[in-house]
Amino acid sequence: MRSKIVAGNWKMNNNNKESIQLIEDLKAAIKNEELSNTRVIVAPTFVNLATSISAANGSSIEVVAQNMHQAKNGAYTGEISADMLKAIDVKTVILGHSERRTYFNETDASLAEKVDAILANDLETIFCFGELLEDRKSDNHFAVVESQLKNALFHLEASAWKSIVLAYEPVWAIGTGETASPEQAQEMHAFIRSIIEKKYNKEVADGVSILYGGSVKPANAEEIFSKPDVDGGLIGGAALKVADFTAIIKAI
Ligand code: 13P
Repeated sequence: MRSKIVAGNWKMNNNNKESIQLIEDLKAAIKNEELSNTRVIVAPTFVNLATSISAANGSSIEVVAQNMHQAKNGAYTGEISADMLKAIDVKTVILGHSERRTYFNETDASLAEKVDAILANDLETIFCFGELLEDRKSDNHFAVVESQLKNALFHLEASAWKSIVLAYEPVWAIGTGETASPEQAQEMHAFIRSIIEKKYNKEVADGVSILYGGSVKPANAEEIFSKPDVDGGLIGGAALKVADFTAIIKAI
């Protein structure tokens, strides 16, 4: 059975002290929650990963990275390798976030290399993708999502998909307060599962967790999560407030 996941992408927020505090608060808030088959994840910035991992120690909170470089090591000033992440016990890395694609020129081709590096290092990825507003307005959203997945992931063997979590994040819903409706999310998630089934098989398609991201808040989480192909959320702004993030976890 695929896992339910609530993941907080902290983006470029929280210094070291704030990161530790948020994890401590979250630990206390979910201590007595029944989280069967549900993973709770937070993604602090690189510089705060090690102390965040220590802070989360002994709890069920997983601490993951927001990005990773594809090369093993070398002259890539400012970048972080899989080896470096593994050495501090990071097991999962977010890749392909629309902010990385937009502001840091990440492409389907470079993301395919990053995904290969994830697999070569026995890591897991939460792989993000989603259409722009103009794609949706021109009714191109299914084609855009299909090409993002094909270009970055469909070269993988079926067996690799146990290390992949998908996060559908329509760009027009990120940080805008405008969410996809639960029906729009379900429609896209079902489409994603159908193209994975066509390319691979039903077992792979049914096994992959597909998260929705884009202005998920306590007020809308339960309805979005109630859809059969929505396996949880990748949360931005609301993950920075312990009460909101906890409410979203409870919604699942
Ligand atoms: P918001 O929840 O702030 O819209 O951000 C979503 C997101 O980008 C998570 O990766």
